Amino acid sequence: MQSPYKAIKVTEDVWWVGAIDWNIRDFHGYQTKRGSTYNAYLVMADKVTLIDTVKAPFREEMLARIADVIDPGRIDYIVSNHSEMDHSGCLPEVIAAVKPEKVFASQAGAKALREIFPSESLEIAAVRDGETLSLGNRSLVFMETRMLHWPDSMFAYLKEEELLFSQDAFGMHYASLERFDDQLDPAILEYEAATYYANIILPYSPLVLKLLEKVAAAKLSCKIVAPDHGPIWRRDIGGIVGRYGKWASQKPTAKAVVVYATMWHSTEKMARAVSEGLAAGGLQVRFMSMGEVHRSEVVYELLGAGALAVGSPTLNNNLLPHMADVLTYIKGLKPRNLVGAAFGSYGWSGEAVGQIEAILAEMKVESAGEGIRVKNVPDAGTLEKCYGLGITMAEQVKARL
Ligand code: FEO
Repeated sequence: MQSPYKAIKVTEDVWWVGAIDWNIRDFHGYQTKRGSTYNAYLVMADKVTLIDTVKAPFREEMLARIADVIDPGRIDYIVSNHSEMDHSGCLPEVIAAVKPEKVFASQAGAKALREIFPSESLEIAAVRDGETLSLGNRSLVFMETRMLHWPDSMFAYLKEEELLFSQDAFGMHYASLERFDDQLDPAILEYEAATYYANIILPYSPLVLKLLEKVAAAKLSCKIVAPDHGPIWRRDIGGIVGRYGKWASQKPTAKAVVVYATMWHSTEKMARAVSEGLAAGGLQVRFMSMGEVHRSEVVYELLGAGALAVGSPTLNNNLLPHMADVLTYIKGLKPRNLVGAAFGSYGWSGEAVGQIEAILAEMKVESAGEGIRVKNVPDAGTLEKCYGLGITMAEQVKARL
């Protein structure tokens, strides 16, 4: 029987030959509810070129899709735009199977691949920012995109097809057999692209803004943007590029995220009162219990938020573990332009609120006022204070809009 894995035509000379990971639900801490794809592309130029490879367990799927177009042994070049293992995990085996004439990566990429595969003696040719690689009747122009997503990352622009291979940028974790944006529900694309941005790209937002300027200055005309995850953009390129600009700017809007953990519902009562105050002050509120929602959802909601209220009771002189988890995660993703405050109940020692305030300060969140702590159960006066804190936060956010 022939392999069921087929290549999908992107343009006359470019094929998608990647792999679909239907079942992945955790991508280093990011909950991927719709699975993912690892995209690889075959450019059928005079020099047949494979752009990126796939995560190691998916090597055979990728090779089968390539074989649907051409004998894999006829590949001349492999370009590694990004060395993270979801795109390079099977690179040594693919090199051994294909025996390409050359393998290309950025300077940092060549170094990283040698470090990732120290026993493989990989021969990688390093390309420079702006360098053009002739494929005979086609040409690839490389553009360094450091830290998007790793120091090695680069774009490759197939000039004659006006096609940008953008590795992680403009991607999303969304497994589908439909490979193009115009074949999928735009609302899901917007949600998954935003979730991906918040969970992967957010810390590099200042670099995204610089990159968008660089791409605009280069006046690259793009008919297709082909990322390494999720669908290929051919209908709404302006939309996804525009959204990257908006997300990267991190301009606050009239939106607040209230995130809390609770033991016996005392901190939850405080969270409800803070939320009522925020809403009365004119903000849209996202109310998120860490017992019920995933950290990925919290950072998705932080895109465009102006306020972050955090509540935790004290357990054994510390935050509840759920809260420590999400705060560690949020801190690493470096959201900016937030007003914040802490609250929480305690039984006898009550360190959690101070610990939250210290973390918010490290995150450069502007304090809206002293945190609110309550012993055991909040009374009416405490809930009124929480409501007032919500009002104060809303006023501070609105003053920044
Ligand atoms: Fe999809 Fe940064 O790897």
